[in-house]
Amino acid sequence: MAKPRVLATRPLFPAAQQILNGSCDVDYWTQPERISKEELFRRIKDKEGLVCLLTEKVDDELLRAAPKLRIAANVAVGFDNIDVPACTKRGVVTTNTPGVLDETTADFAWTLLMAVARRLGEGEQLARSGNWKGWDLDQLVGTDVWGKTLGLVGFGRIGRAVARRAAGFQMKVIYTDAIRAPLDIEKELKAGYRDFNTLLAEADFVSVHVPLLPETRGLFDAPKFFRMKPTAFLINTSRGAVVDEAALVHALESGKIAGAALDVYENEPFILPGLKRANVVLAPHMASGSLETRTKMACIAAENVVALFKGQRPPNMLNPEVLKAR
Ligand code: DGY
Repeated sequence: MAKPRVLATRPLFPAAQQILNGSCDVDYWTQPERISKEELFRRIKDKEGLVCLLTEKVDDELLRAAPKLRIAANVAVGFDNIDVPACTKRGVVTTNTPGVLDETTADFAWTLLMAVARRLGEGEQLARSGNWKGWDLDQLVGTDVWGKTLGLVGFGRIGRAVARRAAGFQMKVIYTDAIRAPLDIEKELKAGYRDFNTLLAEADFVSVHVPLLPETRGLFDAPKFFRMKPTAFLINTSRGAVVDEAALVHALESGKIAGAALDVYENEPFILPGLKRANVVLAPHMASGSLETRTKMACIAAENVVALFKGQRPPNMLNPEVLKAR
């Protein structure tokens, strides 16, 4: 029997290839540059499966070009690149990769937090520049992290993993979320619930961990920055569009907040010139980027695809109703 035909928009990692190749006939996009929309549409035409990245849009236009498609497996936990209702309408299963990247992403949120507080970006530049004249008392003095208040916006798996790390820094942890966490979790993580505005007024570091949804798009706008302390920092490892970047630039320029550390941007890979400031640490969307974690993400996507073609239920379905309808 012919194996189902699958397109993978990246070569993935060997472990994920092994999973896929066992049950599928896979067309891997292996060029160093990203697959173009034209090429994607050309190759997807005869495919029953797609393993894609967050940089590919799975929308009605793509689905129209993919009449045989049965599954689109995103190699990411965030799935704002996928029009889930459009997939559901056409009976296409769609999946993501929850759970495996929480700790790695939390590590990186802390990397950014520490870097911006202690001015690591500026320090590294100075150390490499050849202009460093030696130790000085007030040289690149930053702000303490330990003992401060960490405000988490979004208290799901990643927000909680960030909270867990705060204990070592003797920080006070506060959080806000649409749904308050169970009391035992609050107790375990020593995290206090606040409404959003109270959190913004209280926190020294505001770290964002919400998915991009219609209700979170532009969540951090000018009035929100106005509520933050002028000594506070914003850390974003979620999605760029959760922050109104023009308002952030204004808040930084006018000293409404002390700085920011960003891994994600509204229109990646474009970074607003106004964000390229000394008090902003910039990273190129790499929070989940450890080899171990990215390999696990690719394997999960591969497992979802293989499960469907084996007649099983893919473990990470975003639209389970598609299979119920069959
Ligand atoms: C995700 O998974 O959504 C991240 O942004 C990439 O790891």
